[in-house]
Amino acid sequence: MSPAAKPDVRRVFLGVSGASGALYAVRTLQMLVAAGVAVDLVYSGAARRVLQEETSLILQDDPSLLLEDGQDASLVKLWPHGDIGAPPASGTALGEAVLLVPCSLSTVAGIAHGSAANLLERAAQVALKEGRKLLVVPREAPLGRTHLDNLSKLAWAGATVLPASPGFYHQPKTVLDLVDHVCAKILACCDIEQTQVPAWDGGLSQA
Ligand SMILES: Cc1cc2nc3c(=O)[nH]c(=O)nc-3n(C[C@H](O)[C@H](O)[C@H](O)COP(=O)(O)O)c2cc1C
Repeated sequence: MSPAAKPDVRRVFLGVSGASGALYAVRTLQMLVAAGVAVDLVYSGAARRVLQEETSLILQDDPSLLLEDGQDASLVKLWPHGDIGAPPASGTALGEAVLLVPCSLSTVAGIAHGSAANLLERAAQVALKEGRKLLVVPREAPLGRTHLDNLSKLAWAGATVLPASPGFYHQPKTVLDLVDHVCAKILACCDIEQTQVPAWDGGLSQA
């Protein structure tokens, strides 16, 4: 394959850290797989705990329990959080984007200060140094000054900071409508088409 050729299957890195909002990760994963995108998936220990507290799901080695019935589980590879030598940690094997959904302010701080102590931080550092897309979805409230400083550092370094703060202009009826609104934005930032959330039409469909 020549350097300019695009691979047949698009591939992204989805890192999940221990911020509240486990559903954001689950729905982003489902939308990526529905779009035929291969996913290198990493859950931190804290993310596994939050997933269990918020959804009762216990993630062991099989990521298919995060997918919808009938989705192609072969598109998802779950890597150990501590495996800093796993292929997605290298510039040559990293996919086209690193998505941290949701991203704890602890992981934000680590990346902002150059830490690469686990696979999630390492993938983020590689994305920054290689000029690849890094998209961070922080969730914390309120945000303290160190949080804001660290998020600003990431934006300054080239990351896209997309807070987990859904819009309401599409008249959501369910929690999932709110979650999907954020997840659709995440995919839009990566130019990945999804069919779950219609594009905003200026409110014409609600008139
Ligand atoms: C139920 C629960 C909810 C949490 N919510 C948040 C949150 O919304 N934002 C955040 O930054 N940290 C939150 N934390 C704290 C992080 O999980 C903690 O800082 C952890 O060390 C993050 O590790 P990680 O970044 O390696 O996943 C939460 C922890 C628990 C147990």
